[in-house]
Amino acid sequence: MSESFEKHAVLVVETSEEYLCSSAETLLEGMVRLGRKCIPIGCVNGGCGVCKVAIVKGHVRKCGPMSRVHVSEEEESQGFLLACRAMPMSKVELKIIGKMKKIIW
Ligand code: FES
Repeated sequence: MSESFEKHAVLVVETSEEYLCSSAETLLEGMVRLGRKCIPIGCVNGGCGVCKVAIVKGHVRKCGPMSRVHVSEEEESQGFLLACRAMPMSKVELKIIGKMKKIIW
């Protein structure tokens, strides 16, 4: 029997897309699992910075190192992080800061 984890709604402010993401998977994994394209995908290990987002509402848990080249300590304290390195702990609203923003606008 597999362990069950709570699922949280994740809203991408720019596209108004919402998807469900388990508290045991990253914000990026949850999006990919549902076949959405809202957050850009790159290295998936915290190094390239393309999945950078800003948490507008809600709580997340960090799950691995993030490149300080892409997210400084000061930015992190302001809610910026990499979607491949964060898991939702509540309903989350986020804004895309990474490369995709150029495509959207
Ligand atoms: S996909 Fe490269 S840092 Fe998240």
